[in-house]
Amino acid sequence: MEFKIGAGGETKVIFVYKDEDLINDAYLYAKDRELISGKPAEVYSAIGKNDHVIFLGLGDRNKVSLEVLRKAFHALGKEAIKYKVKSIAVEIPQFEDLCYGMTVAAAVEGLLQSEYSYEKFLTEKKLKPALEEVFLTVAKDREDLVTDSIREIQNIAAGIFTARDLVNEPAINMYPEVLANSAKEELTALGVKVEVFGKEKIAELGMEAFLAVGRGSAKEPRFIVMSYAGNPEAKEKIALVGKGITYDSGGYCLKPAGSMKTMHTDMAGSASVIGVLKAIAKSKLKKNVVGIVAACENMISGDAYKTGDIIGSMSGKTIEVGNTDAEGRLTLADALWYATTVEKADKVVDIATLTGACIVALGNITTGAVTNNEAFMKDLKEASSMAGENVWELPGFEEYKELYKGTFADLSNIGKDGAGAGAIIAGLFLSEFVNGTPWIHLDIAGTSYTSSEYGYMPKGATGVPVKTLYYLVKGL
Ligand code: BES
Ligand code: MN
Ligand code: ZN
Repeated sequence: MEFKIGAGGETKVIFVYKDEDLINDAYLYAKDRELISGKPAEVYSAIGKNDHVIFLGLGDRNKVSLEVLRKAFHALGKEAIKYKVKSIAVEIPQFEDLCYGMTVAAAVEGLLQSEYSYEKFLTEKKLKPALEEVFLTVAKDREDLVTDSIREIQNIAAGIFTARDLVNEPAINMYPEVLANSAKEELTALGVKVEVFGKEKIAELGMEAFLAVGRGSAKEPRFIVMSYAGNPEAKEKIALVGKGITYDSGGYCLKPAGSMKTMHTDMAGSASVIGVLKAIAKSKLKKNVVGIVAACENMISGDAYKTGDIIGSMSGKTIEVGNTDAEGRLTLADALWYATTVEKADKVVDIATLTGACIVALGNITTGAVTNNEAFMKDLKEASSMAGENVWELPGFEEYKELYKGTFADLSNIGKDGAGAGAIIAGLFLSEFVNGTPWIHLDIAGTSYTSSEYGYMPKGATGVPVKTLYYLVKGL
């Protein structure tokens, strides 16, 4: 799909707003028959041999948001596929309260999103992209702004789609070594330095918690460090630490079959880190970012870690294993310690499919967040609202920190009996390993994957929260 500024295109797109009539024959025909009402993301095609028009509903004119635009243009893209429309012409208006560049980006994103589908293993493809050209009419003095916005959202979409592809890949193909190679393939050519540590180096660094989780697998762990120096003059650096469990069987605390089925997606946090680094590097943001992933599989074998085990960690803190299925926080403990001590990042965000409890609390449409720094959280919330990716902060009151104290070790990897608050306790456990650095934890157990399509999300991996992370880094 190519975007061009100016007139052209075989099919014209006309916006319909709620309670606003148009003077147009095809519109009046459809309106009379109740085929158009102007509600958001509604589409109606009037396609004849010589006269092609697609009407696109945007709802109340003064309630048009970036999300409304993304969803509407996604529906438009799907309609273009249905009618095999090769080119369209759209005039992008200025909506009150919306930045013009973001308006264009939202429209373009919706169209790009309509052409994503994970079909690698289908012998006959279901989705057949149709749109070749999109002509955008914009005010003359805004052409440069629009050109930049289009390029930027194309980069972001590329990052989102990479993250989705990595997550959707079955675990039989996607294990730590492959994840590390994928990071190299996606990022090296863009100027991101990718270093990969094997088992010996990981042991040398003292990452005992990470190693314990990976012990049961025939596939060796990998520690992946991805450095992007977009502003070498500055010393500020943000670390993005992604959970990289390429398969979570639960270990000896084995998951039931139904819960295990999608556990190849337990590396969605790491995929979002690789995805956003791709977007950041392609857009050449003038920021310093380090992506960090402790990748391993949580499996069963004669050598696997067990409940009751007491393990060390790179930080020196000892941890009792109350449940081998609470593995993510163990791998992240060492990754966060590395990020904040060896890399000396001055801000850190971890992104993890960490708890089923977060899905119970917030469902599939909101990411849960825990922080030790409210000012940083404010930045993240702003970024998430620009991105249209919901984030909700969970409370981090001191009292919760009593609930993961160990009996024979410093800490326990699960909450005390009956403690509840699983998503908060898991989050705060991680705060013990950030060395006092401003930190935000994002629990994407619910939001990184969907079993049914909604809005502009396809079935399977969603790529959340690549967009939020991008706007967060850009805004720092
Ligand atoms: N990877 C899971 C969390 C998860 C659940 C992600 C559902 C996506 C969908 C995590 O490692 C896990 O198993 N967490 C346990 C923690 C518990 C043992 C304290 C959970 O949520 O049940
Ligand atoms: Mn688990
Ligand atoms: Zn897990």
